[in-house]
Amino acid sequence: MKLKPLTIDGLTARIPIIQGGMGKGVSMSSLASAVANAGGVGVISAAQVGFREPDFESDNDAANLRGLRKEIQKAKSMSPDGILGVNIMTATNNYAEQVRVCVEEKVNLIISGAGLPTNLPEMVKNSVTKIAPIVSSAKGARVITRLWTKKYNYLPDLVVVEGPKAGGHLGFSPEVLSKPVLPSLKDIVSGVIEILKPFEEAFGKKIPVVAAGGIYTGKEIAEFIKLGASGVQMATRFVATDECDAHRNFKEAYVNANEDEIKIVVSPLGMPGRALYNKHVKTVEESGRKIKKCFRCLKACNPATAPYCITEALVKAVEGDVEDGLVFIGSEGCKVDKIIPVQELMDELVTEAEANL
Ligand SMILES: Cc1cc2nc3c(=O)[nH]c(=O)nc-3n(C[C@H](O)[C@H](O)[C@H](O)COP(=O)(O)O)c2cc1C
Repeated sequence: MKLKPLTIDGLTARIPIIQGGMGKGVSMSSLASAVANAGGVGVISAAQVGFREPDFESDNDAANLRGLRKEIQKAKSMSPDGILGVNIMTATNNYAEQVRVCVEEKVNLIISGAGLPTNLPEMVKNSVTKIAPIVSSAKGARVITRLWTKKYNYLPDLVVVEGPKAGGHLGFSPEVLSKPVLPSLKDIVSGVIEILKPFEEAFGKKIPVVAAGGIYTGKEIAEFIKLGASGVQMATRFVATDECDAHRNFKEAYVNANEDEIKIVVSPLGMPGRALYNKHVKTVEESGRKIKKCFRCLKACNPATAPYCITEALVKAVEGDVEDGLVFIGSEGCKVDKIIPVQELMDELVTEAEANL
Protein backbone atom coordinates (compact mmCIF):
# COMPACT_ATOMS: atom_id res chain seq x y z
CA MET A 1 0.00 0.00 0.00
CA LYS A 2 1.13 3.54 -0.77
CA LEU A 3 2.29 5.84 2.03
CA LYS A 4 -0.18 8.68 2.56
CA PRO A 5 1.18 12.23 2.27
CA LEU A 6 1.64 14.19 5.49
CA THR A 7 -0.87 17.02 5.71
CA ILE A 8 -0.08 19.84 8.11
CA ASP A 9 -3.06 22.22 8.17
CA GLY A 10 -3.26 22.55 4.39
CA LEU A 11 0.45 22.02 3.70
CA THR A 12 1.22 18.69 2.09
CA ALA A 13 4.50 16.77 2.08
CA ARG A 14 4.31 13.94 -0.48
CA ILE A 15 6.28 11.64 1.83
CA PRO A 16 5.43 11.51 5.56
CA ILE A 17 9.05 11.71 6.72
CA ILE A 18 10.34 14.73 8.62
CA GLN A 19 14.12 15.04 8.88
CA GLY A 20 14.71 15.97 12.50
CA GLY A 21 16.48 19.26 13.21
CA MET A 22 20.09 18.67 14.26
CA GLY A 23 22.22 21.26 15.99
CA LYS A 24 24.69 22.61 15.85
CA GLY A 25 25.20 22.91 12.13
CA VAL A 26 24.37 19.27 11.32
CA SER A 27 21.10 20.09 9.54
CA MET A 28 21.31 23.33 7.66
CA SER A 29 20.25 24.36 4.15
CA SER A 30 22.00 21.56 2.26
CA LEU A 31 20.37 18.65 4.10
CA ALA A 32 17.01 20.36 4.63
CA SER A 33 16.61 21.31 0.95
CA ALA A 34 17.64 17.83 -0.22
CA VAL A 35 15.00 16.20 2.01
CA ALA A 36 12.37 18.74 0.93
CA ASN A 37 13.22 18.12 -2.75
CA ALA A 38 12.83 14.39 -2.15
CA GLY A 39 9.25 14.99 -0.93
CA GLY A 40 9.78 14.96 2.86
CA VAL A 41 9.97 17.85 5.31
CA GLY A 42 13.50 19.27 5.56
CA VAL A 43 14.38 20.93 8.87
CA ILE A 44 17.15 23.43 9.64
CA SER A 45 18.33 23.56 13.25
CA ALA A 46 18.46 27.11 14.56
CA ALA A 47 20.87 26.17 17.36
CA GLN A 48 23.99 28.38 17.06
CA VAL A 49 23.49 28.33 13.29
CA GLY A 50 25.67 31.43 12.87
CA PHE A 51 28.87 29.62 13.85
CA ARG A 52 30.50 30.49 10.53
CA GLU A 53 29.67 34.21 10.79
CA PRO A 54 32.70 36.47 11.50
CA ASP A 55 31.10 38.00 14.62
CA PHE A 56 30.01 34.65 16.11
CA GLU A 57 32.18 35.19 19.21
CA SER A 58 31.84 38.97 19.54
CA ASP A 59 28.09 39.30 18.82
CA ASN A 60 26.67 35.82 19.10
CA ASP A 61 22.96 36.76 18.91
CA ALA A 62 23.34 38.88 15.80
CA ALA A 63 25.52 36.23 14.13
CA ASN A 64 22.98 33.49 14.82
CA LEU A 65 19.96 35.48 13.62
CA ARG A 66 21.81 36.47 10.43
CA GLY A 67 23.03 32.88 9.99
CA LEU A 68 19.50 31.57 10.41
CA ARG A 69 18.06 33.98 7.85
CA LYS A 70 20.82 33.07 5.36
CA GLU A 71 20.25 29.33 5.79
CA ILE A 72 16.48 29.67 5.33
CA GLN A 73 16.94 31.76 2.20
CA LYS A 74 19.53 29.31 0.81
CA ALA A 75 17.29 26.31 1.51
CA LYS A 76 14.33 28.03 -0.14
CA SER A 77 16.35 28.86 -3.23
CA MET A 78 17.54 25.24 -3.46
CA SER A 79 14.05 23.85 -2.83
CA PRO A 80 11.50 26.47 -3.90
CA ASP A 81 8.56 24.04 -3.83
CA GLY A 82 9.60 21.88 -0.88
CA ILE A 83 8.32 22.00 2.69
CA LEU A 84 10.90 23.56 5.00
CA GLY A 85 10.89 23.68 8.75
CA VAL A 86 13.12 25.13 11.46
CA ASN A 87 13.79 23.46 14.80
CA ILE A 88 14.07 25.98 17.63
CA MET A 89 14.75 24.87 21.19
CA THR A 90 12.62 26.69 23.75
CA ALA A 91 15.62 26.55 26.10
CA THR A 92 17.63 28.96 23.93
CA ASN A 93 18.17 32.53 25.03
CA ASN A 94 17.04 34.31 21.86
CA TYR A 95 14.02 32.08 21.18
CA ALA A 96 11.57 34.88 20.33
CA GLU A 97 13.98 36.53 17.88
CA GLN A 98 14.61 33.20 16.13
CA VAL A 99 10.86 32.66 15.75
CA ARG A 100 10.52 36.18 14.33
CA VAL A 101 13.14 35.46 11.64
CA CYS A 102 11.26 32.29 10.65
CA VAL A 103 7.97 34.18 10.42
CA GLU A 104 9.55 36.98 8.36
CA GLU A 105 11.11 34.41 6.02
CA LYS A 106 7.76 32.59 5.73
CA VAL A 107 9.12 29.25 6.92
CA ASN A 108 6.45 26.55 6.53
CA LEU A 109 6.83 24.97 9.96
CA ILE A 110 8.49 25.56 13.34
CA ILE A 111 9.17 22.47 15.44
CA SER A 112 9.98 23.31 19.02
CA GLY A 113 11.11 21.18 21.94
CA ALA A 114 13.59 21.15 24.86
CA GLY A 115 10.79 22.44 27.04
CA LEU A 116 7.22 23.28 26.09
CA PRO A 117 6.76 26.18 23.63
CA THR A 118 4.01 27.75 25.72
CA ASN A 119 3.53 31.07 23.89
CA LEU A 120 4.49 30.06 20.35
CA PRO A 121 0.95 30.60 18.89
CA GLU A 122 1.08 34.27 19.80
CA MET A 123 4.52 34.64 18.16
CA VAL A 124 3.35 33.29 14.78
CA LYS A 125 -0.02 35.08 14.79
CA ASN A 126 -1.19 36.24 11.32
CA SER A 127 1.68 34.39 9.63
CA VAL A 128 1.82 31.42 7.24
CA THR A 129 4.09 29.49 9.63
CA LYS A 130 2.64 26.31 11.18
CA ILE A 131 3.78 25.17 14.61
CA ALA A 132 4.52 21.82 16.25
CA PRO A 133 5.57 21.05 19.82
CA ILE A 134 7.85 18.11 20.61
CA VAL A 135 6.60 16.02 23.52
CA SER A 136 7.87 12.89 25.23
CA SER A 137 4.65 11.78 26.92
CA ALA A 138 0.87 11.83 26.61
CA LYS A 139 0.85 14.14 29.61
CA GLY A 140 3.13 16.63 27.84
CA ALA A 141 0.85 16.50 24.77
CA ARG A 142 -2.19 17.23 26.92
CA VAL A 143 -0.54 20.09 28.82
CA ILE A 144 0.57 21.98 25.70
CA THR A 145 -2.62 21.31 23.72
CA ARG A 146 -4.83 22.38 26.62
CA LEU A 147 -2.76 25.52 27.10
CA TRP A 148 -2.74 26.49 23.39
CA THR A 149 -6.46 25.83 22.94
CA LYS A 150 -7.49 27.62 26.15
CA LYS A 151 -5.23 30.63 25.87
CA TYR A 152 -5.02 31.09 22.09
CA ASN A 153 -7.86 28.92 20.70
CA TYR A 154 -5.05 27.27 18.71
CA LEU A 155 -4.77 23.56 18.00
CA PRO A 156 -1.20 22.32 17.33
CA ASP A 157 -0.69 21.91 13.57
CA LEU A 158 1.32 18.75 14.28
CA VAL A 159 2.75 17.00 17.33
CA VAL A 160 6.16 15.30 17.32
CA VAL A 161 6.45 12.52 19.90
CA GLU A 162 10.10 11.90 20.70
CA GLY A 163 10.97 8.71 22.55
CA PRO A 164 14.04 7.70 24.57
CA LYS A 165 16.07 6.28 21.65
CA ALA A 166 16.59 9.65 19.93
CA GLY A 167 19.91 11.43 19.57
CA GLY A 168 20.76 14.69 21.34
CA HIS A 169 19.00 15.95 24.47
CA LEU A 170 16.23 13.70 25.71
CA GLY A 171 13.01 14.45 27.56
CA PHE A 172 13.48 11.60 30.06
CA SER A 173 15.18 11.43 33.44
CA PRO A 174 18.62 9.78 33.80
CA GLU A 175 16.94 7.14 36.03
CA VAL A 176 14.49 6.15 33.28
CA LEU A 177 17.26 6.13 30.67
CA SER A 178 19.52 3.92 32.80
CA LYS A 179 16.94 1.10 33.02
CA PRO A 180 17.66 -1.97 30.88
CA VAL A 181 14.28 -1.60 29.14
CA LEU A 182 13.40 1.87 27.87
CA PRO A 183 9.82 3.16 27.67
CA SER A 184 8.27 2.05 24.37
CA LEU A 185 7.83 4.75 21.73
CA LYS A 186 4.84 2.84 20.37
CA ASP A 187 3.09 3.02 23.75
CA ILE A 188 3.85 6.74 24.08
CA VAL A 189 2.60 7.46 20.54
CA SER A 190 -0.64 5.51 21.16
CA GLY A 191 -1.14 7.42 24.41
CA VAL A 192 -0.63 10.77 22.65
CA ILE A 193 -3.08 9.87 19.84
CA GLU A 194 -5.67 8.93 22.47
CA ILE A 195 -5.18 12.05 24.54
CA LEU A 196 -5.51 14.35 21.51
CA LYS A 197 -8.85 12.85 20.38
CA PRO A 198 -11.15 15.09 22.50
CA PHE A 199 -9.30 18.19 21.26
CA GLU A 200 -9.64 17.03 17.63
CA GLU A 201 -13.35 16.43 18.17
CA ALA A 202 -13.90 19.83 19.78
CA PHE A 203 -12.14 21.61 16.91
CA GLY A 204 -13.35 19.27 14.13
CA LYS A 205 -9.75 19.00 12.93
CA LYS A 206 -7.08 16.32 12.88
CA ILE A 207 -3.74 16.79 14.64
CA PRO A 208 -1.11 14.75 12.80
CA VAL A 209 1.08 12.84 15.26
CA VAL A 210 4.63 12.10 14.16
CA ALA A 211 6.82 9.50 15.90
CA ALA A 212 10.54 10.09 16.50
CA GLY A 213 13.48 8.36 18.14
CA GLY A 214 15.16 5.15 17.05
CA ILE A 215 13.15 4.68 13.84
CA TYR A 216 15.59 3.29 11.31
CA THR A 217 13.89 1.22 8.61
CA GLY A 218 10.95 1.52 6.24
CA LYS A 219 9.40 -1.46 8.03
CA GLU A 220 9.45 0.52 11.28
CA ILE A 221 7.88 3.51 9.51
CA ALA A 222 5.05 1.20 8.38
CA GLU A 223 4.56 -0.03 11.96
CA PHE A 224 4.07 3.52 13.26
CA ILE A 225 1.67 4.37 10.41
CA LYS A 226 -0.37 1.25 11.21
CA LEU A 227 -0.47 2.37 14.83
CA GLY A 228 -2.14 5.62 13.79
CA ALA A 229 0.81 8.00 13.38
CA SER A 230 0.67 10.32 10.37
CA GLY A 231 4.41 10.13 9.81
CA VAL A 232 7.84 9.82 11.38
CA GLN A 233 10.70 12.14 12.23
CA MET A 234 14.17 10.68 11.63
CA ALA A 235 17.53 12.29 12.26
CA THR A 236 20.35 9.78 12.78
CA ARG A 237 19.90 8.18 9.36
CA PHE A 238 20.08 11.55 7.63
CA VAL A 239 23.54 12.25 9.06
CA ALA A 240 25.08 9.58 6.84
CA THR A 241 24.07 11.31 3.62
CA ASP A 242 26.14 13.23 1.09
CA GLU A 243 24.03 16.34 1.65
CA CYS A 244 24.22 16.43 5.47
CA ASP A 245 25.93 19.69 6.46
CA ALA A 246 28.35 18.13 8.96
CA HIS A 247 32.05 17.48 8.22
CA ARG A 248 32.89 14.15 6.57
CA ASN A 249 34.58 13.00 9.83
CA PHE A 250 31.25 13.42 11.66
CA LYS A 251 29.47 11.19 9.13
CA GLU A 252 32.28 8.62 9.24
CA ALA A 253 32.12 8.58 13.03
CA TYR A 254 28.53 7.32 12.59
CA VAL A 255 29.63 4.66 10.09
CA ASN A 256 32.33 3.47 12.52
CA ALA A 257 30.24 3.64 15.72
CA ASN A 258 29.64 0.43 17.66
CA GLU A 259 26.65 -0.17 19.93
CA ASP A 260 28.76 0.09 23.10
CA GLU A 261 30.14 3.49 22.04
CA ILE A 262 26.70 5.15 22.01
CA LYS A 263 25.84 6.24 25.53
CA ILE A 264 23.77 8.56 27.67
CA VAL A 265 25.85 11.58 28.65
CA VAL A 266 24.99 14.52 30.86
CA SER A 267 25.02 17.88 29.12
CA PRO A 268 26.25 21.04 30.92
CA LEU A 269 22.62 21.71 31.81
CA GLY A 270 22.44 18.50 33.76
CA MET A 271 20.05 17.16 31.10
CA PRO A 272 20.69 13.70 29.68
CA GLY A 273 21.48 13.25 26.00
CA ARG A 274 22.68 10.49 23.71
CA ALA A 275 26.14 10.84 22.18
CA LEU A 276 29.26 8.99 21.13
CA TYR A 277 31.36 7.98 24.11
CA ASN A 278 34.57 9.59 22.82
CA LYS A 279 37.64 11.34 24.24
CA HIS A 280 35.64 14.51 24.92
CA VAL A 281 33.05 12.70 27.06
CA LYS A 282 35.71 10.76 28.96
CA THR A 283 37.73 13.92 29.67
CA VAL A 284 34.64 15.69 31.01
CA GLU A 285 33.79 12.71 33.21
CA GLU A 286 37.30 12.71 34.64
CA SER A 287 38.00 16.38 35.15
CA GLY A 288 35.70 18.69 33.18
CA ARG A 289 36.84 21.18 30.58
CA LYS A 290 37.44 24.86 31.18
CA ILE A 291 34.96 27.25 29.61
CA LYS A 292 36.96 29.84 27.68
CA LYS A 293 34.01 31.81 26.37
CA CYS A 294 30.31 31.68 27.31
CA PHE A 295 27.91 32.19 24.37
CA ARG A 296 24.87 32.49 26.67
CA CYS A 297 23.14 30.05 24.33
CA LEU A 298 20.95 28.23 26.84
CA LYS A 299 18.79 29.90 29.45
CA ALA A 300 19.53 27.37 32.17
CA CYS A 301 23.31 27.02 31.69
CA ASN A 302 25.58 28.51 34.33
CA PRO A 303 29.16 28.92 33.02
CA ALA A 304 30.47 28.98 36.60
CA THR A 305 29.34 25.42 37.27
CA ALA A 306 28.97 23.85 33.79
CA PRO A 307 31.63 21.17 33.21
CA TYR A 308 32.23 22.36 29.61
CA CYS A 309 30.75 24.65 26.95
CA ILE A 310 28.19 22.78 24.85
CA THR A 311 28.39 25.23 21.96
CA GLU A 312 32.17 24.86 21.73
CA ALA A 313 31.96 21.06 21.96
CA LEU A 314 29.22 20.71 19.33
CA VAL A 315 30.81 23.16 16.89
CA LYS A 316 34.14 21.32 17.20
CA ALA A 317 32.44 18.04 16.30
CA VAL A 318 30.46 19.33 13.34
CA GLU A 319 33.64 20.87 11.95
CA GLY A 320 35.38 17.51 12.04
CA ASP A 321 37.05 17.14 15.45
CA VAL A 322 35.03 14.10 16.48
CA GLU A 323 37.35 13.15 19.35
CA ASP A 324 37.49 16.49 21.20
CA GLY A 325 33.95 17.51 20.25
CA LEU A 326 30.52 16.26 21.33
CA VAL A 327 28.89 13.97 18.74
CA PHE A 328 25.18 13.51 19.32
CA ILE A 329 23.78 10.29 17.84
CA GLY A 330 20.62 8.19 18.17
CA SER A 331 20.60 4.69 19.68
CA GLU A 332 20.42 3.07 16.24
CA GLY A 333 23.44 4.98 14.93
CA CYS A 334 25.53 1.80 15.17
CA LYS A 335 23.51 0.40 12.23
CA VAL A 336 24.78 3.09 9.85
CA ASP A 337 27.17 1.44 7.41
CA LYS A 338 27.53 3.86 4.50
CA ILE A 339 27.07 7.43 3.36
CA ILE A 340 24.52 7.76 0.55
CA PRO A 341 22.57 10.50 -1.26
CA VAL A 342 19.35 11.69 0.44
CA GLN A 343 17.25 10.64 -2.56
CA GLU A 344 18.57 7.07 -2.33
CA LEU A 345 17.78 6.94 1.39
CA MET A 346 14.27 8.31 0.88
CA ASP A 347 13.61 5.82 -1.98
CA GLU A 348 14.79 2.92 0.18
CA LEU A 349 12.64 3.99 3.14
CA VAL A 350 9.52 4.53 1.02
CA THR A 351 9.86 1.25 -0.88
CA GLU A 352 10.35 -0.71 2.33
CA ALA A 353 7.55 1.08 4.16
CA GLU A 354 5.10 0.52 1.32
CA ALA A 355 6.02 -3.18 1.12
CA ASN A 356 5.10 -3.47 4.80
CA LEU A 357 1.84 -1.51 4.82
C1 LIG B 1 23.23 15.05 15.85
C2 LIG B 1 21.86 15.33 16.40
C3 LIG B 1 21.54 16.61 16.80
C4 LIG B 1 20.25 16.89 17.26
N1 LIG B 1 19.93 18.19 17.60
C5 LIG B 1 18.67 18.50 17.96
C6 LIG B 1 18.30 19.86 18.21
O1 LIG B 1 19.12 20.79 18.10
N2 LIG B 1 17.02 20.10 18.60
C7 LIG B 1 16.10 19.10 18.73
O2 LIG B 1 14.95 19.38 19.08
N3 LIG B 1 16.42 17.82 18.49
C8 LIG B 1 17.66 17.50 18.09
N4 LIG B 1 17.98 16.19 17.80
C9 LIG B 1 16.90 15.17 17.83
C10 LIG B 1 16.35 14.90 16.41
O3 LIG B 1 15.76 16.05 15.86
C11 LIG B 1 15.33 13.75 16.32
O4 LIG B 1 14.10 14.04 16.85
C12 LIG B 1 15.79 12.45 16.92
O5 LIG B 1 17.15 12.29 16.89
C13 LIG B 1 15.13 11.30 16.19
O6 LIG B 1 15.68 10.07 16.51
P1 LIG B 1 16.71 9.32 15.54
O7 LIG B 1 17.93 10.14 15.51
O8 LIG B 1 16.87 8.00 16.19
O9 LIG B 1 16.08 9.21 14.17
C14 LIG B 1 19.28 15.87 17.36
C15 LIG B 1 19.64 14.56 16.99
C16 LIG B 1 20.90 14.28 16.51
C17 LIG B 1 21.24 12.87 16.09
